[in-house]
Amino acid sequence: MNINNDFSSSAKYYDIMQDNSRFRKSVKFVIKTLKEKKITSVLELGCGSGYYLFPIKNAGYNIEGLDIGKNILNEVKKKDKVVKLYLEDMSKFKIDKKFDSIICLNSSLVLLPDFTLMKKTLKKVHEHLNDSGLFMLDVPNHEVEIKESNNTQDSEKFKLKNGVMHVVYRDYKKENKWIAEEKCFVNENGKYFEFEEKFAELIFNPNKLEKELKKIGFNIEVMYGGRSGENFNKNRSRRRFYICKKS
Ligand SMILES: C[S@@+](CC[C@H](N)C(=O)[O-])C[C@H]1O[C@@H](n2cnc3c(N)ncnc32)[C@H](O)[C@@H]1O
Repeated sequence: MNINNDFSSSAKYYDIMQDNSRFRKSVKFVIKTLKEKKITSVLELGCGSGYYLFPIKNAGYNIEGLDIGKNILNEVKKKDKVVKLYLEDMSKFKIDKKFDSIICLNSSLVLLPDFTLMKKTLKKVHEHLNDSGLFMLDVPNHEVEIKESNNTQDSEKFKLKNGVMHVVYRDYKKENKWIAEEKCFVNENGKYFEFEEKFAELIFNPNKLEKELKKIGFNIEVMYGGRSGENFNKNRSRRRFYICKKS
């Protein structure tokens, strides 16, 4: 199975596989935070199929999306032909305007292959934010995730409009990467087919990340332990959800 960090195999089914009550709660939390901070314009890096982007847009924000995956951006275009999208690498992008907020959610940042590219991305974020702009960054707390889930296998069944999909998940650590494999078996419109997805997250050092954020010019206002603003607990939290302000 090849590593495929742009989700091109699973693009069509991405929303269905992601949608659950925890993610729906997270979307509400992100919108609430944007509202509290009086944000108007938003850029989402690694926007994927628009799972966060569309509810944010529908809540009245002027949001644009950037992603490296052509297939996954096509899923966004199917839903909305006018939303502004950039088919770009988040570590290299240049847009001729600035935003009140840049968000990079659900581990998109750690899909970059190494820490140098992560640092380049953080600099890009800083460059593209208005003064006092807000950076929302949701990355895994790998220490806990790996302790709890290394070498595990699980499965899930999804109801499709005209069929069903069964997915087998495997998670394991390999060198400095946290790997997720998904084998998907579909029965849709009376046809059987299958596809697979494999992505590799960079196991980063959180202290180094925080030091870099500060060096680049961000104040870390708060770090939550979950996607919906849960308190951080070093031994239990599976996320590091940073709210940063451009200083
Ligand atoms: C786990 S998905 C998250 C999608 C979306 N934020 C969500 O929560 O539904 C990660 C996304 O990051 C994108 N991605 C990976 N590497 C990227 C890069 N270097 N530049 C821009 N996007 C990237 C992938 O194509 C994918 O759509």
